[in-house]
Amino acid sequence: MSERKEIIVTEEDIKKQKDIINQMAILNKDKYLKFHIETYGCQMNVHDSEKLAGMLTEMGYQHTDNLEDADVILFNTCCVRQHAEIRIFGRVSQLKELKQRKPNIILGICGCMMQEKEVVAAIRKDYPYIDMVFGTHNLFKFPEILQEALNSDTTVIDVWDDNSNIVEDIPIRRAEGLKAWVNIIYGCNNFCTYCIVPYVRGRERSREPKDIIDEIKSLADEGFKEITLLGQNVNSYGNDLSQKVDFADLLYMINNINGIERIRFMTSHPKDISDKLIFAIRDLDKVCEHLHLPVQSGSNRILEKMNRKYTRERYLEIIEKLRDNIPDIAITTDIIVGFPGETDEDFQDTLDLVKKVKYDSAYTFIYSKRKGTVAEKMPDQVDEDIKHKRLEELIKLQNSISIEKNNEMNGKIVEVLVEGTSKRDSDKLTGRTRTNKIVHFKGESNLIGKFVDVKIIETKAWTMQGELISEQI
Ligand code: 5AD
Ligand code: SF4
Repeated sequence: MSERKEIIVTEEDIKKQKDIINQMAILNKDKYLKFHIETYGCQMNVHDSEKLAGMLTEMGYQHTDNLEDADVILFNTCCVRQHAEIRIFGRVSQLKELKQRKPNIILGICGCMMQEKEVVAAIRKDYPYIDMVFGTHNLFKFPEILQEALNSDTTVIDVWDDNSNIVEDIPIRRAEGLKAWVNIIYGCNNFCTYCIVPYVRGRERSREPKDIIDEIKSLADEGFKEITLLGQNVNSYGNDLSQKVDFADLLYMINNINGIERIRFMTSHPKDISDKLIFAIRDLDKVCEHLHLPVQSGSNRILEKMNRKYTRERYLEIIEKLRDNIPDIAITTDIIVGFPGETDEDFQDTLDLVKKVKYDSAYTFIYSKRKGTVAEKMPDQVDEDIKHKRLEELIKLQNSISIEKNNEMNGKIVEVLVEGTSKRDSDKLTGRTRTNKIVHFKGESNLIGKFVDVKIIETKAWTMQGELISEQI
């Protein structure tokens, strides 16, 4: 069993991974080995899984959706809320029987949960059949960890506390050929008092603009049409770079890349929304009219306790400016109910803000106590019952607003990027508007991957039905 903690990645470390990938590719040739990855949590994790899949593919493994067929199984975990952790431990328990039946299978757990010491201790103690454990900071080292696990009888544990380097050139196996995720900044410096992310993902580190641009150019060459720029807080992009460049500058650079037609990004922190960014969204033709702007609470008292660094008045001012400049913009958000000390009055402030903003949609969460965060120790934790009632009331309100907002789309003609056939109705195609709304409509499968104009004829809270008008040239 090995456990190391370090923060510097050397050229040699990186070269070693490439050498192992090459060795494994030769060794695994014609063996038809397969891998399966289960991903929990946010888009960062989804994208990390694409990197793990990329490395496995280069090592000669093929992807399988079926756990039973796999030679390597990875669980890429999330620890943002306790609920997710409990579910993941449940899934890990189920692997025991599989390992007994197929002792040669390699089982790995990685991601944010592994950055928590108690979790690693629990795996060491109660789940000895797990072959490898690694965290978010040494993902690039996966080939070496896998090789070690293949040659070891005990659990290989390799979790780093931090990593100030960004390792470029990790192979990526992207899910499809149309839309791609691209990391622009890792980590978070904000320390919202409820949130565990800064503890498990480390401090903010921006990628060099050139690395981002090169990656997106090669995605365009491969035929990708839409990219989503990823970061816990994309708006602080560039703060740590020697080159004077901010997020809006980056959008201008990316907007010039031929072949990419749509640019999205997430997540934005309200405290860092500048006029320059609002004007960039307005002025850049490829930047889509959608902003995910988590508010978390509508009460100034709670916002302060959350360490969000803005007031509800400032937030509403940003919304107004966004709508003044980009009238059709869709705005979505994240909201937490039941933060410690949240009174009925605070919750009413949240409902009131939701009514004022009229979000297109909202991700709503019950506050979950996370070990090591400031809020964990706060007095007046809210009763579970009350939290659930508040969540229900909030969801009901937001649903009615989503329906109302989507109703406004009825009869309008919108641009849709066709993504595939509808899962529910194989007769229909499905795609998204620039405002990120899902539209189903009848059409031939040769339209997949193309931009079409669709007239909206029926709307619901989450989806819309449309009628194909024409293919865009
Ligand atoms: N409890 C509930 N929700 C949380 N989030 C982050 N931490 C917690 C927590 N401890 C939510 C926030 C964030 C989203 C990704 O998850 O709303 O924006
Ligand atoms: Fe968590 Fe706040 Fe950072 Fe978002 S900005 S990842 S909520 S600490």
